[in-house]
Amino acid sequence: MDSFKELCRQRRSHRKFSPEPVSDEQLKTILSGALMCPTSKGLRKWRFIVTRDPERISGLGGIRPNGSAFISGAAAVVAVLGEPAAQEMWIEDGAIAAVTMQYMAEDIGLGSCWCQVRGRESCDEGVTAEEKVKLILGIKDEYSVLCLVGIGHPINERKPQDESALKWEQVEWK
Ligand SMILES: Cc1cc2nc3c(=O)[nH]c(=O)nc-3n(C[C@H](O)[C@H](O)[C@H](O)COP(=O)(O)O)c2cc1C
Repeated sequence: MDSFKELCRQRRSHRKFSPEPVSDEQLKTILSGALMCPTSKGLRKWRFIVTRDPERISGLGGIRPNGSAFISGAAAVVAVLGEPAAQEMWIEDGAIAAVTMQYMAEDIGLGSCWCQVRGRESCDEGVTAEEKVKLILGIKDEYSVLCLVGIGHPINERKPQDESALKWEQVEWK
């Protein structure tokens, strides 16, 4: 990509992927983007769980009644966690890292999409999506799960962002 602006224009969410695997090198590049992100007070208290295990990925696709199914078709999934007792701003830190991974994935020719976990219910009454993720990935109690980022080789072309439709009316100049 020629410039960061062009990367921002090209990045779209991808929810359909080919079965082609994502390599160690590609995942390391994506994770390096997350690990270089700014964090509140520079604490870097996030935690990332990376899986390419088909059984786990299939389970993660079923954590919510809607909005998570695309995860089942991803070649790799990164769960973005925070440690609320150690970092009050864990949600902000996690969101910055998750989106940076999405831009990094786009930059190396892969597609990705965010799947919300925090605050969502699962298909089973009284069970949260987070509880499901914790079970599937064996996550300790002290961590909270913000989201999953599904990654893979996209099979659909998506139109870039339409610069003529940007919501400039939501920007106030003072
Ligand atoms: C906080 C957040 C939560 C999201 N949750 C989901 C989700 O659970 N499932 C999903 O398919 N997409 C999810 N998305 C992706 C958005 O639907 C997507 O970014 C939006 O439709 C704009 O499309 P674009 O990314 O192609 O510009 C989420 C995105 C964000 C930032």
